[in-house]
Amino acid sequence: MSKKYSVVVVGLGKRGGHHISAFQASDRFEVVGICDIDEDRLAKTKAELGGDVQASTDAAPLTTSLKPDVFCFCTMPHLREPFIKMGIDGGAKLIAFEKPVADSSAAGLAVKKLIDDSGVKAVVSHQHRYGPHYAKVAEIAKSGVLGNVHTIYASSPGWMMHMASHMIDYMREYNGNAGAEWVMAQAAGDGKLGDNHPSPDYIAGFVQFANGVRGVLELGAGAPNVPEVGKWWGRNRIRVMGDGGYAEVLTNGGWRAVTGDGVASGEGAMNYAHDTPLYVQDMAEWLDDDSKVHPCNFESAYEGMEIMAGLLRSVIDGGQVALPLTDGRNELEELRKKLAGSKVLLASPDHAAEYS
Ligand SMILES: NC(=O)c1ccc[n+]([C@@H]2O[C@H](COP(=O)([O-])OP(=O)(O)OC[C@H]3O[C@@H](n4cnc5c(N)ncnc54)[C@H](O)[C@@H]3O)[C@@H](O)[C@H]2O)c1
Repeated sequence: MSKKYSVVVVGLGKRGGHHISAFQASDRFEVVGICDIDEDRLAKTKAELGGDVQASTDAAPLTTSLKPDVFCFCTMPHLREPFIKMGIDGGAKLIAFEKPVADSSAAGLAVKKLIDDSGVKAVVSHQHRYGPHYAKVAEIAKSGVLGNVHTIYASSPGWMMHMASHMIDYMREYNGNAGAEWVMAQAAGDGKLGDNHPSPDYIAGFVQFANGVRGVLELGAGAPNVPEVGKWWGRNRIRVMGDGGYAEVLTNGGWRAVTGDGVASGEGAMNYAHDTPLYVQDMAEWLDDDSKVHPCNFESAYEGMEIMAGLLRSVIDGGQVALPLTDGRNELEELRKKLAGSKVLLASPDHAAEYS
């Protein structure tokens, strides 16, 4: 019988709940400890889980005493480094955490150093890729039917700290995870810099990938609407373009392709209940076998974080920013000064509810 891995989950909000459901539904994992600073939320989750699960408002002693195989935390973007350290100190074999990797290059570099120095496996939850429509576009992009792929365009009306991490990760996947050489960007609007996912209201930029493919990204209020998709947060497009055609995924609107084989399309919508269990199952595969590296591995996600931080640096400093980044900065802090008083112009009245 396969080994069952023990799990501690910290942060029992929306994503913590999804993770707990997926771990408990799997025969490869058992949640042995839970933590949240919100006592009501903690008590509610403990009651739902029942059994011997240990609950605490303080993650450090819980983790030290339970020494879980998997340390999973689902907290806001500013809380990464202390929990990574906690997972490593608790002897975890794998740390699973939420996107984005970090909210600055300084925090990202600190997290990378901890993970690299310890050798712990780590994954970041870019689980949209498990949706059948995302997988279909990955399959088409890899098949060669698009000919010479030259451009990958990604847009989302959702703001950067929520959505950039996802969009860049799948852009990288559709481009064979090629490294990025430089980025350049512009931004407008300081409204969302006060959000718990702090971001410029709108950022648009370019990525030069080492294989010559051009990445184009737009996130936030100035990004085009995709009115045929009902759910506003699902109005995200990633389009892979080659000289033989194109294929695109819409987060809540399926997939489409136009190639030499004709016009094709299919359904699909982002679904946590479908995607998270597959993401969790791949953790077991990687824990069982070092060669089965998780598709959402930290190393790849970190390169996405560098692209996001590089775009912000371009807004702050102007011009092109060479990657990989070699020093850490707090880009958001600098952006607050740069964008103070800046007002964004909307791409669609449909975006007004989020950017008024
Ligand atoms: N992968 C995805 O598709 C996806 C979707 C939504 C959100 N997210 C990401 O997930 C992360 C969490 O988002 P959420 O919507 O679940 O947030 P949430 O607010 O619903 O939950 C966060 C929880 O963390 C708890 N918490 C905060 N500090 C803590 C601490 N020191 N110790 C223990 N618990 C603590 C809070 O009390 C809260 O219950 C964010 O980074 C967000 O960007 C990812």
